[in-house]
Amino acid sequence: MEFVTLNTGVEIPMIGTGTNTYGKQDHNYNGDITGDTTELDAAIASGYRLIDTAIGYRNEAVIGAAVKKSGLDRSEFFLTSKLPGKEEYTASREAVEAGIAFSLEQLQTDYIDLYLIHHPWDDLDEIVSVWKVLEEYVDKGVFKAIGVSNFDERQLQYLLDNARIEPAVNQIQSHVGHWNHEVIAFGKQHGIVSEAWGPLSGVSDEARVKLTEIGKSYNKSWAQVSLRYQIQSGVVVIPKSHDAGRQKDNLELFDFELTAEEMAEVAAL
Ligand SMILES: NC(=O)c1ccc[n+]([C@@H]2O[C@H](COP(=O)([O-])OP(=O)(O)OC[C@H]3O[C@@H](n4cnc5c(N)ncnc54)[C@H](OP(=O)(O)O)[C@@H]3O)[C@@H](O)[C@H]2O)c1
Repeated sequence: MEFVTLNTGVEIPMIGTGTNTYGKQDHNYNGDITGDTTELDAAIASGYRLIDTAIGYRNEAVIGAAVKKSGLDRSEFFLTSKLPGKEEYTASREAVEAGIAFSLEQLQTDYIDLYLIHHPWDDLDEIVSVWKVLEEYVDKGVFKAIGVSNFDERQLQYLLDNARIEPAVNQIQSHVGHWNHEVIAFGKQHGIVSEAWGPLSGVSDEARVKLTEIGKSYNKSWAQVSLRYQIQSGVVVIPKSHDAGRQKDNLELFDFELTAEEMAEVAAL
């Protein structure tokens, strides 16, 4: 595993597992929670330690259970969760604190490695107010790092101008159908690590053919080339698969390197 150091000094693995359909009926995002930890057990056994969840996914308790079940020390894991950018969770200090308490309880932990605001909303000053509460939890050692998700350059800049603790991560949509180059570049300029959600989504047939062709000489699949492109660009990836074999394949990214020419080709897809 390779890591990137966040602006807090904390190291984040370059690859983690997404979970937004894990522990749910029919692997459906809106499905009932089954509590089944099968996908997470397999991911943890394969070596995933960064696990990405959110209050909005309703499955933090499934992640908490899988971590416990693994028998590994809590410190082995890098847990990320997210506070919804919804009034119910953001309207007051009490609302924010209740959300945080819920995450901690569901995850069965007394600290979270990275806590994000899941989505921005129109009132930037209100976002800053929520952020200030998150900062206090960094002070208390409950959060090791804080960040945001789905923020654009303007929203990031406003937060940078008003924050005491700058965001460590911006989790954004990034895949071959939508690389999000500009916000990633902005993050780099300001010491904010970009983390790709949906890193294997949005692949057209044409892009798949091109990625497959690039992967041939390395004996890698289109998916591995796509993920490698992102980590080689300094972007953390959190792919998800319900298949234990594909989960393993997605970790096999550190034994090959794309050439500058191939990087440019993938960037242009
Ligand atoms: N912050 C946000 O707003 C936000 C939004 C969306 C998602 N997320 C996070 O990002 C995570 C990842 O995104 P995602 O779950 O939408 O999609 P993803 O990781 O892009 O995966 C998309 C699909 O690709 C397939 N796949 C995985 N590995 C593969 C491989 N090696 N070869 C071929 N197909 C493969 C999987 O199907 P199989 O199961 O059949 O393998 C999966 O359903 C989420 O789980 C969630 O944690 C965050």
